[in-house]
Amino acid sequence: MKHLVVGLGYVGLANLAFLSSNSKDEVVGYDKDEKRINDLKHDDYYLEEAKLNETLYNEKRRIVYTSSINAFKDVGAFYIAVGTPSKEDGAVDMACFYEVIKDIKEHANHDAYVVIRSTVEIGTGDKVNALLNKDGKFHFNVISLPEFLSESSAYEDEMNPARFVIGVDDEDALTFIKRIRKKSLNDGVPFYSMSHVSAEMSKYASNAFLATKISFINEMSRLAESLGGDIVDISNGMGADPRIGHSMLNAGVGFGGSCFPKDTKALIYKGKENDVEMAINEAALMVNITQPLLFLKKIEKHLSGVKDKKIAILGLAYKEGTGDNRSSPSLYLAESLLKDGAILSAYDPSKTSRESFKKGFSSINVCPSLDEAVKGVDAVVFLSSSKEFKEIEETCLLKLMNGRYVFDGRNIFSTEHFKYCTYISIGRKDSLR
Ligand SMILES: NC(=O)c1ccc[n+]([C@@H]2O[C@H](COP(=O)([O-])OP(=O)(O)OC[C@H]3O[C@@H](n4cnc5c(N)ncnc54)[C@H](O)[C@@H]3O)[C@@H](O)[C@H]2O)c1
Repeated sequence: MKHLVVGLGYVGLANLAFLSSNSKDEVVGYDKDEKRINDLKHDDYYLEEAKLNETLYNEKRRIVYTSSINAFKDVGAFYIAVGTPSKEDGAVDMACFYEVIKDIKEHANHDAYVVIRSTVEIGTGDKVNALLNKDGKFHFNVISLPEFLSESSAYEDEMNPARFVIGVDDEDALTFIKRIRKKSLNDGVPFYSMSHVSAEMSKYASNAFLATKISFINEMSRLAESLGGDIVDISNGMGADPRIGHSMLNAGVGFGGSCFPKDTKALIYKGKENDVEMAINEAALMVNITQPLLFLKKIEKHLSGVKDKKIAILGLAYKEGTGDNRSSPSLYLAESLLKDGAILSAYDPSKTSRESFKKGFSSINVCPSLDEAVKGVDAVVFLSSSKEFKEIEETCLLKLMNGRYVFDGRNIFSTEHFKYCTYISIGRKDSLR
């Protein structure tokens, strides 16, 4: 069987790596971005996902990369993994997705499975089923198989998912997924089959829940700060309860990335469309919008205004271990600090992240190393918990910096870490020296 993965970003490449390394079938990766295809052909995988890149490299003789529409011929299973960003009003922008459906309708030349891996507007599976199978020569068995991988562990999550949520119309579709995911089935990974709508909604509900967990602890951090509590201690105290768990309980400047903000907005939008109040989601989003704002106020307060102050922003990607800056708090903070007259330098361990940041902010000195970014600044602002940042010694910072202000937007240091700097974090007593 020929498998065609359409859209080669995080999700598409992870699917490609899985299909190639777990079957002897023909595996093709298609993307309309010719540069991306050319890079992939030359072993430039551009994602900061070491194991995924290694697998793609090892499989390079088996995987065909192409931007030719001819790839849609003779396909037994399509996997759609194109982007579904937010529109201005929060609705899901399905334009790229429906381009692919149109291409399948026009170019496929026999019956096929159509596996939806993108996070799509709720109702899409049923709609696609009707669209593809109306007046057509061929039968397309549509399967909603939402992708749950996380950036920075894309490979591990793809190979060993916690569960499969599968929206299907018939037994054949379920059997197909169980066949290609045989190893997971044998390993006892749960396979939950359900309607397309339920599968699509499971994906949104999962992301919105995780986003809410982050906003919840961020809201607690505000109260802790006012009452003299320490949010790290509080998180530990909460997370030890197995019903709660430690994950997503780290207070900080808020969530970003290509999924949580857009998926929360999409749920709110769907609620509005259907006259269902989405109060929790609205609140989670609002806390997330105001969280970097409060952090900015702290920076302004401690530096007595930021006009002409030299500040280094450290951590540009929305989280550690990825090069993805989409909806990263660094974008909002950089924009606001610049507007208020600060002189900014910036650094992220990821080259991809640095380069894309540079494109958006020509007036910021984006540096190739941490030392260069920090040299001569009045303050440093940590926005991700990269290992490189966690290992920073105060003495090194002091040698390079001009001032002594450390703003920690991810609580990566203990409040005792800095002896000579003014250390300001989130939801803890500031160490004001
Ligand atoms: N990134 C994640 O962590 C993650 C996790 C789970 C689910 N998702 C969902 O998966 C989908 C893909 O996300 P991503 O981050 O991998 O996307 P991405 O933006 O990194 O990549 C999407 C790719 O699709 C290509 N593309 C767009 N239109 C196309 C078309 N008509 N034909 C062929 N290629 C086309 C683009 O050129 C791009 O290379 C989204 O719906 C997202 O919400 C993402």
